Amino acid sequence: DLLGEIKKLEQHLSIDTKKLKEITNHFVAELEKGLTVEGGSIPMNPTWVMEYPDGYETGTYLALDMGGTNLRVCEITLTDTKSEFDIIQSKYRMPEELKTGESEELWDYIADCLQQFLDTHHGDLAPGTMIPLGFTFSYPATQNYIDEGTLQRWTKGFDIDGVEGHNIVPMLESALKAKDVPIRVSAVINDTTGTLIASAYTDPTVKIGCIFGTGCNAAYMENCGSIPKLAHLNLPADCPMAINCEWGAFDNEHVILPRTPYDIIIDKDSPRPGQQAFEKMIAGLYLGEIFRLIMVDLHDNKDIHIFEGQDIKKLRKAYTLDASFLSAIEDDPFENLQETADLFSDKLGIATTRPELELIRRAAELIGTRAARLSACGVAAICKKKNFQPCHVGADGSVFNKYPHFKARGAQALREILDWPVKKNAKEEDPVEILAAEDGSGVGAALIAALTLKRVQAGN
Ligand code: BG6
Ligand code: GLC
Repeated sequence: DLLGEIKKLEQHLSIDTKKLKEITNHFVAELEKGLTVEGGSIPMNPTWVMEYPDGYETGTYLALDMGGTNLRVCEITLTDTKSEFDIIQSKYRMPEELKTGESEELWDYIADCLQQFLDTHHGDLAPGTMIPLGFTFSYPATQNYIDEGTLQRWTKGFDIDGVEGHNIVPMLESALKAKDVPIRVSAVINDTTGTLIASAYTDPTVKIGCIFGTGCNAAYMENCGSIPKLAHLNLPADCPMAINCEWGAFDNEHVILPRTPYDIIIDKDSPRPGQQAFEKMIAGLYLGEIFRLIMVDLHDNKDIHIFEGQDIKKLRKAYTLDASFLSAIEDDPFENLQETADLFSDKLGIATTRPELELIRRAAELIGTRAARLSACGVAAICKKKNFQPCHVGADGSVFNKYPHFKARGAQALREILDWPVKKNAKEEDPVEILAAEDGSGVGAALIAALTLKRVQAGN
């Protein structure tokens, strides 16, 4: 019976406080390990962003944001008024076929978008002028300098040959040169680092930048003295260094996260099996797919009979449901789940019964809740490692901004993990609050470009 199935899903997907705490403690140890010479699963990439903005940065900067879903080009002017800025931007679709296509096609497409942006927003430039660009490239990259980035591995379903293991800057720059686009890359930035810096610009209590979107990741400011893998550079111990954790790779060795058979299928069928274990359980790219796998499994299970006698061909197509499908189910305001029934019939051609709808809603809630609770373990781990309580966390991404109850569920999990007393009133702040960030990949990239310029001019 379906109630029994709901119980089973609850057992598979719920994570109690004790387990959240165990995961968090292991997470703290793994963050440390990533900073050592030997390293661990979590890359903990130094970003060469070595200070917070003071709010008085100025100048006009170009930023390119390649996040996974959209491609965005922005021109940001940091004004003389403290912590204020103007922004012009154009969004371009990231064609699906590019994500698994050829390297040259990717760089060529990006160069075209930049060219279009300059054609629309810029008049003639003096001959020889090269416009500096902050490139938000939101994939794990090794950086020895701020203006280079060697792709460690593609994440978020990307699979383009010939980029992993290479510095992406010369690839983009040669595509730009071929089209005579007068742009040079002055900084390579992760979206989490951009989010950290942009949020700290307007709220100095921000200590962590997080993305909960197609992928999931965080950045925070470390002291060089606590980064053994940089010890050979003899940087001052108290010198700050933003670390892009790439925490999506947490538990790649599968020792702590309670994976379900569905998580195992997602990993096995992905372009990079064995990678991004944590991300594959929580990020927007995978939430709809986890749900789809559950539905197909329950249909195919002879004893359960959901969608009995119906053709579920559309539901069988991998990645046919995205996180917005789950959002819509969780948002269904009707007691009889009418909107969910309509979604199933319109999008999938499946008629649903009332008990099936109850199961569908519960499955969506369990998947969304698990994602929020697991995400909180990462935030809690950084806070514990760095003694960051109290602090604010700047967050961006479609899951954080749009997925119903994600924020409240995450906050509840943080409360459980970090043992906070019950709030005296609703207005009281938690010791760690996760808040919507300023546009990290626009403003953050501009600020990082400004800070870099300042450092270069100071001769550091
Ligand atoms: C956007 C940022 O707002 O959020 C991007 O500009 C970032 O840099 C993105 O990668 C993450 O969200 P999503 O949902 O698009 O992956
Ligand atoms: C993936 C990427 C990471 C990025 C995150 C959010 O985890 O590897 O670089 O920050 O997605 O976009």
